[in-house]
Amino acid sequence: MSKQFDVVVIGGGPGGYIAAIRAAQLGFQVACIDEWKNAAGGPAPGGTCTNVGCIPSKALLQSSEHFDHANHHFAEHGISAKDVKMDVAKMIARKDIVVKQNNDGILYLLKKNKVTFFHGRGSFASKAEGGYEIKVAGKTEESITGKNIIIATGSNARALPGTPFDEVNVLSNDGALRVGAVPKKLALIGSGVIGLEMGSVWRRLGAEVTILEGLPTFLGAVDEQIAKEAKKAFDKQGLKIELGVKVGEIVNGKKGVTVNYTNAKGEAVVLDADKLIISIGRVPNTIGLNTEAVGLQLDERGAIVVDADCKTNLSGVWAVGDVVRGPMLAHKAEEEGVAVAERIAGQHGHVNFNTIPWVIYTSPEIAWVGRTEQQLKADGVAYKAGSFPFLANGRARALGDTTGMVKMLADATTDEILGVHIVGPQASELIAEAVVAMEFRASAEDIARICHAHPSLSESTKEAALAVDKRSLNF
Ligand code: FAD
Ligand code: NAI
Repeated sequence: MSKQFDVVVIGGGPGGYIAAIRAAQLGFQVACIDEWKNAAGGPAPGGTCTNVGCIPSKALLQSSEHFDHANHHFAEHGISAKDVKMDVAKMIARKDIVVKQNNDGILYLLKKNKVTFFHGRGSFASKAEGGYEIKVAGKTEESITGKNIIIATGSNARALPGTPFDEVNVLSNDGALRVGAVPKKLALIGSGVIGLEMGSVWRRLGAEVTILEGLPTFLGAVDEQIAKEAKKAFDKQGLKIELGVKVGEIVNGKKGVTVNYTNAKGEAVVLDADKLIISIGRVPNTIGLNTEAVGLQLDERGAIVVDADCKTNLSGVWAVGDVVRGPMLAHKAEEEGVAVAERIAGQHGHVNFNTIPWVIYTSPEIAWVGRTEQQLKADGVAYKAGSFPFLANGRARALGDTTGMVKMLADATTDEILGVHIVGPQASELIAEAVVAMEFRASAEDIARICHAHPSLSESTKEAALAVDKRSLNF
């Protein structure tokens, strides 16, 4: 007889492992199956986020930023640093340690919460009495049964047709995080989140970086004013971003990669690079799940079809995170995981899609929550806008980083905050205040009247709120 669980979670990324922990907290018998292997073949839960996504990319961004500071910013503080060198192998080894600490942390958390962990691939075998039978194929093969199944199998990098990833010259996010030496010339296709973050890492370390973007606008989902400010900063850094290109033939040769493309003026261009990173979005992953065995419905993109509550077309089967609709973000996956566990327990799990923050961890950082100015215009909403530049913020001056601004958008009549958009130092941390404010449906006046510590970057948020009412104090 197979082992019986109340909840079986397939996938141990941020959506899956968090769903498993929350379900266990609620008193269920929970199994979590994850197939990711570390270099030694052992379990490495945490999914894309921990292994080849959020965590390792931020480790490399941090290392490369230190290098950049030592080379270009220490001097203004009176620190002389000569012959600053980058040991890429050491940087990558440190990143691997950070990843392992997170893998181990997740294994510890699963154990602490009495979640039974299975290392292997989970797939649907059949509908079973009161649930589903799931086959687990790892070192051994076994069968388990779950009354409820939560699918959190994540996503994979999208390849360009005809140009498979070899992870030597043509890199996905995986290979981009394992490059052994700084490439002299690095090409990237796609100036989205990965393109900008990975492009920044290798540019800071000395690569000549060219990012080719198909769309004519830069960061179309970002507030236009913020995107413009960010682009200005990237241009100044020497991050070459070509918009409106049409990528043609790509030749992966012995010495590197050649990308043929047509630029925005319609001219044919040949770009030679040592490495090419393709970052043109991600595709939901249901490989090996055997969805056909139970008739699980997928959409035309291959995503699992779910309703607003993450219910699939099958009773007792739920899906969360990158494998379903919505933004592909770790914190969105986590929120859905928690909400589903709570719904299984008969509670009212809740995810507010209007207050999911976005952060791009470049320098300057870009962060936002809620609607952009262009979205408000398109939606016909009457709004007021206020912004405050970091140039006028004392802490930013002391830090030596005055790029960018905080911009707040509020309803013209009610003053409710509808969006906050930041480009500048520590935008990733500053955005949290805006998220809390919007969750509580605060007005700009609320933020304007709250005491913020001085000197702090967060005073810029207060000042942007004051600016909504045209009464900035420091600008
Ligand atoms: P995943 O993290 O992909 O986890 C899915 C897990 O399921 C994997 O471990 C996989 O091996 C396992 N699996 C799949 N199929 C099976 C099966 N049949 N049986 C068993 N196991 C299976 N998001 C942010 O919010 N912030 C960031 O800074 C950020 N940075 C990123 C940087 C990069 C380079 C990339 C690529 C992504 C980044 N993301 C970031 C996105 C984030 O990684 C994803 O949104 C998040 O990991 C999705 O979580 P998930 O649980 O849905 O899926
Ligand atoms: P993306 O969707 O952010 O950007 C892809 C870019 O590629 C777009 O600008 C698109 O117009 C362009 N593109 C698509 N096809 C193209 C083509 N054929 N030629 C030229 N350009 C083309 O996707 P990306 O960067 O791959 O990242 C995937 C997802 O991972 C992100 O959307 C995000 O959800 C997540 N992520 C989140 C991070 C964060 O939160 N800081 C960091 C990295 C990734």
